[in-house]
Amino acid sequence: SIEVYSQITKECYSYLRRKDRGDANAEVATFDIVVVDNSGKVLIEVTDYTIKKVRNAHQKSEKMAKKTESFYQLGWIKKGLKQGEEVSKKGIILVFKSEDDKSSSLIREFKKQGRRIIEVSIGEEYKKIDENTYIVASNERSYMKLITNFHEEKISYILHLLNFNMHDSETIEQFNRGKLTGVMSLYYLTRALLFNRFRQKVDIVLVGNQANEVTKRETIINPQVAALFGLAKVVRQEYPKLQCRSIDIDSNTEVEDILCEVVYGEECNLVAYREGERYVEELQKLDIENVSKRDVKIRSNGVYVITGGTGDIGLEFGKYIAGKNKVHLALLNRSKFPERQNWKEILEHNEDIKLIRKIQSIQEMESSGAEVSCYSVDVSDENTLKDVFEELHQKYGKINGIIHSAGVAGDGLLITKDENVFQSVLRPKMDGTWMLDHFTKQDDLDFFILFSSISSLFGGVGQGDYTAANTYLDAYAVYRSKKGRPTLCINWPAWKDIGMAVDYGVNQDGVFKAISTEDAIQGFENIFYKDICNIFIGKLNQEYIEEFPVKISEELQIITKKSNAKDNRKDIKQKNNNIITLSGNHNNQYNDIEQKIATIWARVLGVSSIDVHASFYRLGGNSVLAVSLYRELEKEFTKMLDITDIYSYPTISQMSEYLKTKNINIVQEETSYDESNLDMILEKLANGEITEEQIDYLV
Ligand SMILES: NC(=O)c1ccc[n+]([C@@H]2O[C@H](COP(=O)([O-])OP(=O)(O)OC[C@H]3O[C@@H](n4cnc5c(N)ncnc54)[C@H](OP(=O)(O)O)[C@@H]3O)[C@@H](O)[C@H]2O)c1
Repeated sequence: SIEVYSQITKECYSYLRRKDRGDANAEVATFDIVVVDNSGKVLIEVTDYTIKKVRNAHQKSEKMAKKTESFYQLGWIKKGLKQGEEVSKKGIILVFKSEDDKSSSLIREFKKQGRRIIEVSIGEEYKKIDENTYIVASNERSYMKLITNFHEEKISYILHLLNFNMHDSETIEQFNRGKLTGVMSLYYLTRALLFNRFRQKVDIVLVGNQANEVTKRETIINPQVAALFGLAKVVRQEYPKLQCRSIDIDSNTEVEDILCEVVYGEECNLVAYREGERYVEELQKLDIENVSKRDVKIRSNGVYVITGGTGDIGLEFGKYIAGKNKVHLALLNRSKFPERQNWKEILEHNEDIKLIRKIQSIQEMESSGAEVSCYSVDVSDENTLKDVFEELHQKYGKINGIIHSAGVAGDGLLITKDENVFQSVLRPKMDGTWMLDHFTKQDDLDFFILFSSISSLFGGVGQGDYTAANTYLDAYAVYRSKKGRPTLCINWPAWKDIGMAVDYGVNQDGVFKAISTEDAIQGFENIFYKDICNIFIGKLNQEYIEEFPVKISEELQIITKKSNAKDNRKDIKQKNNNIITLSGNHNNQYNDIEQKIATIWARVLGVSSIDVHASFYRLGGNSVLAVSLYRELEKEFTKMLDITDIYSYPTISQMSEYLKTKNINIVQEETSYDESNLDMILEKLANGEITEEQIDYLV
């Protein structure tokens, strides 16, 4: 409302008081405004003056122009197996076997070579039948008991064949069994090996059927096997002595090929055999312009379910859908959303900025004409989720689309992560996806969209559960699409401004550059109407390309190098502007190692001054940031630290002392550079004439 008390004077002032919490990311902001003259007399009073953020149309079209370099997909290329010398010839072979002819003949082949084979089957409880035959139940205790027997033995291989012939999970019982013999079985096995202090290198080979779409001729895909293979990536990253690798087979794969792969295929994380040929993964550029369109739309009066709907990304997509048409939105989360009658009070007096942003976002959806309802439900709880869908079906008759955005961030090493925590990350994505699909089978949905992460491709220390859960989503999208129910799965990089990456302080550039909310939504807009199943959105980061655990196509490497060279200009300038203030040492003297470590800490923690005796955790570090810190330190002090050293030497001073014992030699760098040469240097980088290391040296 506006009250005018007297005519406006030639010179006057306006005093603005922001009424909401002042959240920088909010889409709307509300003010009270008082206009006063020079003597302070009030001329005009405006209450509840609301402004709304609008997207810059010019920027948008620029982003659109760049879209061709922002989409990727996984492809598979043929690569024969090099048969060198077998390394681990001695030692027993522990086989987790399935009731399958191929699995039995593989065991026979190893026996023929005179190997001692220990056969392990899954049963109701742990039992030792004889020296070479055991039964384990699907729980951690049972696996612990089994592994204790081989504490003193040299194990050359552990062959995990339980997923040799995985079937479709039509019922919840089959789904649960698949999970226990799949991802949970590797979780139990890894922990049993770690707790039994296996110091020797163990080659763990997982064989499973059709986790990936390799030739596009597969008729069925097994998401449970994919989750197992996802976890395997992280086991290997967290514990290099546990050399976990996966072989994805089809029904035509010969026992001979599996045997050769077990013995000679050590260097490969994941291979696939299809119709007798061997394949490895490759990340490729996807030309989105050339992907055909699909007839999909947001319908007027359509009913759309967003799980994790009051989470940060869920809310963005609620606004996106509401902006397209007049719709009914059901937002599903475990926590109970405040009752509507309390919203006004919360907006005016509550200190919780996140909650205020959630309410404002829902109000924004409603102001676009949407009807929004919030449901408190765990999407992995069969009975309560069923009730919600029954209610939605009763109310609206039919559901038109689902965005499955519910997720829990992974945090912590497998050795420290108990089963409840591990499962809490798997459940929304694995059990939740399976149930959402089953409870909406009759709806003939226009879309079923899954929010996965780039972690399913590159894993990450501390991300075992999260990687397995997202790998399940990737495969589920193919599985469901092959059943005639089109599904889209998006592998997002870290979102820069909102969401769980911000909550955990990992919203920085990694293997992919962190993505802004605007670019993410724009990217989504570009693919929503396309006939596509799995897609990576974002920008690869040249800096990390060497660390990438899958091959990157040559075309993509060239594109990435060129586009990153432009971005580097900004980063390099920034690098030179970052001055870190150190404190804590007598006379304020800091050695080279302390200064190097401090630069890395400052970058990871986002601070500019550090006491060298303050612990990483006191300065705001957490276990997710510890992983980032380790990655950054590894670049500077290659192979001198392992992840546990972050916990053992938690201050800069302690870590520096420890590194000194490693006898490292810090080279004093030149710190000045001629900015006028920068363009030339970057041009050379783009053309491959100089390397990034050389640039680092120059700068
Ligand atoms: N943010 C990123 O950078 C990023 C990057 C890659 C992928 N992703 C994926 O994008 C999705 C959304 O992430 P976000 O950043 O929006 O995270 P967020 O803000 O933490 O939101 C996730 C939401 O999921 C809900 N949820 C978790 N478990 C649930 C369950 N069992 N049943 C129902 N709801 C559940 C949570 O609410 P309650 O706790 O109340 O249940 C929360 O509101 C996630 O799947 C995430 O893995 C995010």
